[in-house]
Amino acid sequence: MSAVTASLAQVRTVNVPLGSRAYEVLIGPGLIGRAGALIGARLGTARCAIVTDENVARFHLGALEAALGESGRLVGSITLPPGEATKSFRQLEPLCERLLELGLERGDLVVALGGGVIGDLAGFAAAILRRGVRFVQIPTSLLAQVDSSVGGKTGIDTPQGKNLIGAFHQPGLVLADTDTLRTLPERELRAGYAEVAKYGLLGDAPFFAWLERHHPSVFALEAEVLTRAVETSVRAKADIVGRDETEQGERALLNLGHTFGHAFEAWCGYSDRLLHGEAISIGMCLAFRFSAALGYCDAAAADRVRAHFAAVGLPTRIGDIPGEKPDIETLMKLMAQDKKVRQGKLTFILARDIGEAFIARDVPADKVRAFLAGEIGASGRR
Ligand code: NAD
Ligand code: GLY
Repeated sequence: MSAVTASLAQVRTVNVPLGSRAYEVLIGPGLIGRAGALIGARLGTARCAIVTDENVARFHLGALEAALGESGRLVGSITLPPGEATKSFRQLEPLCERLLELGLERGDLVVALGGGVIGDLAGFAAAILRRGVRFVQIPTSLLAQVDSSVGGKTGIDTPQGKNLIGAFHQPGLVLADTDTLRTLPERELRAGYAEVAKYGLLGDAPFFAWLERHHPSVFALEAEVLTRAVETSVRAKADIVGRDETEQGERALLNLGHTFGHAFEAWCGYSDRLLHGEAISIGMCLAFRFSAALGYCDAAAADRVRAHFAAVGLPTRIGDIPGEKPDIETLMKLMAQDKKVRQGKLTFILARDIGEAFIARDVPADKVRAFLAGEIGASGRR
């Protein structure tokens, strides 16, 4: 078997079932080198503009440019600064103008090569450019491979909160090349792992138990285990998105840990002080402890969640956030910007057990305040 045939055999395909907007997520090694042919077979001979960031460009842009250049379809590449601050109006405006200057037409493709920041920003640019051009996601962080590249949420942050400006715009294809994870910094890999575990916690207890046993192999990037972890995550997300594309109901379950987590990220100024996945790790631990405090689940389940995240080196408590600790009223104000707020009432994703998350609307503010007071007090005593 040739090397190409061998790596093709390792590629898994997940379909995102969205009717006329359905698309495939390919997962496995060596996909960037074959991107020209893979895109051509599914999306035709459209021309491509790559959007990436400086870190990703250093390791992977050359290979993608070569793969797209071979088929004569590359019109240019745009490399942006790395980091959450790039997901902003400040970067969106020049990005759109540069895509237009490259002559990108309605039938052409924006190709997002990078983590969730590049995927969300480039996807949003594609959504609004010429009232919508197609785009391809080539996610290079674990978080982007298991979550942000699938499902069509695109957007930017504002000082008022995360992802408050955006659009649903589905990609035409996702190429999750697991080889790219070899250059991902360890801390980013760990942060992305929080989103992998999320799928177990929200709806798949056997997957969570499997992760408890196999997480060292995920972190060692052992091909079979890694591909299975990414595939299981993508399949779970594709199922939910297929049933509820625009988050009228069930899709909100994917926000387990995010009401708390987004508030912590905003508190830290969307900086390296707390990565998105780290904020979500704390948020999911809090969601389980809050569920236990409200009597929905056993404290033992919440302890098990915390123990697993601690075992992989993720933060699990408000006290683990470096620097000044947030106060309750600031957190309540930040949580009020959550997109799930309806008529001023907070919605939380809570759980009856591991793998049994549910949507709790109208959670009384005084219960949230009392819970946070306990959490902040507990972190102060540690
Ligand atoms: P990111 O895009 O900032 O990537 C993390 C860091 O890793 C960056 O410094 C990046 O340059 C670097 N990097 C990425 N791939 C690399 C590689 N292969 N080798 C070396 N360095 C690499 O962050 P992220 O964690 O990928 O994504 C977080 C973002 O995703 C947040 O903005 C979050 O809101 C968003 N998100 C969106 C969705 C969605 O459904 N659209 C879901 C979850 C998260
Ligand atoms: N990451 C949450 C969603 O895609 O709905």
